Amino acid sequence: MSPRTITEPVFDRHLGDDWREQALLADVSAGLAAPPRRLTPRWLYDDRGSELYTEITRLPEYYLTEAERSLLRSAATEIVEVSGADTLIELGSGTSDKTTTLLDAFAAVDRLERFVPLDVSEQTLRDAAAALADRYPGLQVHGVIGDFVEHLAVVPHEGVPLLAFLGSTIGNLYPSQRADFFRSVADWLPDDGHLLLGVDLVKPVDRIMAAYNDAEGVTAEFTLNVLAVLNRELDADFDLDAFEHVGLWDPNHTRVDLRLRSLRDQHVSIRGAALEIDIAEGEEIRAEISTKFTLAQLDAEFAAVGLESVRAWTGDGDVALVMVRRSRPA
Ligand code: SAH
Ligand code: TRP
Repeated sequence: MSPRTITEPVFDRHLGDDWREQALLADVSAGLAAPPRRLTPRWLYDDRGSELYTEITRLPEYYLTEAERSLLRSAATEIVEVSGADTLIELGSGTSDKTTTLLDAFAAVDRLERFVPLDVSEQTLRDAAAALADRYPGLQVHGVIGDFVEHLAVVPHEGVPLLAFLGSTIGNLYPSQRADFFRSVADWLPDDGHLLLGVDLVKPVDRIMAAYNDAEGVTAEFTLNVLAVLNRELDADFDLDAFEHVGLWDPNHTRVDLRLRSLRDQHVSIRGAALEIDIAEGEEIRAEISTKFTLAQLDAEFAAVGLESVRAWTGDGDVALVMVRRSRPA
C-alpha cells in the first residue's frame, strides 16, 4: 500500500444555526406545557450529557456496550463481506468508539472510501471525526451535524452504503417514530445498501433495570442533566435537587420508561419558551424510553416497510446486530 496522507474531515450542517434553538423550543412547548409532560431525548446529549453517556457505557451494570463491542469484533469481517460496502454511514455516532472495530475490518481489506458520522451533538461529532481522520489516513471523513430521523433523507448517496445504527439507540424511539425511521431507511437505501442495526434483546427484567438504575447514580445524573440543558438554553429555573430519577418497566411495550419525579410542589419558569408551569409533588416528566426487542418483532416491523433481515448475530444472547436490506421478490 502506498503511504497516504491524512485527509482533513469535512462537515455538513443540516441544522442551520437556529435549528437547535427552534427545535428545542418546539419540543419544550409541545411536551412540557401540560401533563403528562414529556421531554425529547435528543437534548440529553449536550457536552456534559455525552460525557455522562460515555461513563454509563463503562458501568458494570450497563452490559449493552461491551456486549455489542464483542459482537462487532467477532462479526466485523463478515459484516464487511456481506455488506460489500465502500461507504460507512453511522447514525447517532457519538464518539464512534466501537465503530473502530468495523473501520479496522474495512481497512484490513482496503475497502472503505468514506465514513459519514451523523449526530446532533456537534462538538462530540467534530472531535470524533478529527480523531478518526487521524487514525485512518486516506479515509474521507464527512461529518453530518443533524437529526437521524429528520435528516437521513439528505445524506448524500455515494458508493455502496452500510448504514450503522448502534448502541440500541433505535430503542429510544417511540413505536411511531421507529416506524417512521424504518420507512425513511427503506426510502433512502439503494438496492445494494444495508442497514446494520444494534439492539438490546428482551431478557430478565432485573438485569435490564439495573442497567438504567446504577449504584453510582450516573444514569440519574445523565437524565437530570437534561434539566440543566433547559436552564442554560431556554433560561429556565429547574432545581435539579427537586427531582429524582425513576426507572419503570413497561411489560406491555417491553421497554424501560425513564422519568424525572418531582419531590415537591414547585413552580418552574421556562422564560425562553414563555412557559410558567406548576409541577405537583410526585408528578413525573417522561425523559426517555429504552425498548428491548425480539428478532421476530423486528422482522415484522421490517416487513411492514419493505425491509428484510439477511443475517443476525446474537452472541450469548444479550444484544443483537441485524443486517437489513430492502426486501427482494422471492
Ligand atoms: N452510537 C454510540 C452512541 C449512542 S448514544 C454508541 O453505540 O455508543 C446516542 C447518540 O445519538 C448520541 O451521540 C446522541 O447525541 C445522538 N442522538 C440522539 N438523538 C439523536 C437524533 N435525534 N439525531 C441525531 N443524533 C441523535
Ligand atoms: N441507547 C441507550 C439505551 O437505550 C441510551 C441510554 C443509556 C440511556 N443509558 C441511558 C438513555 C439512561 C436514558 C437513560 O440504553
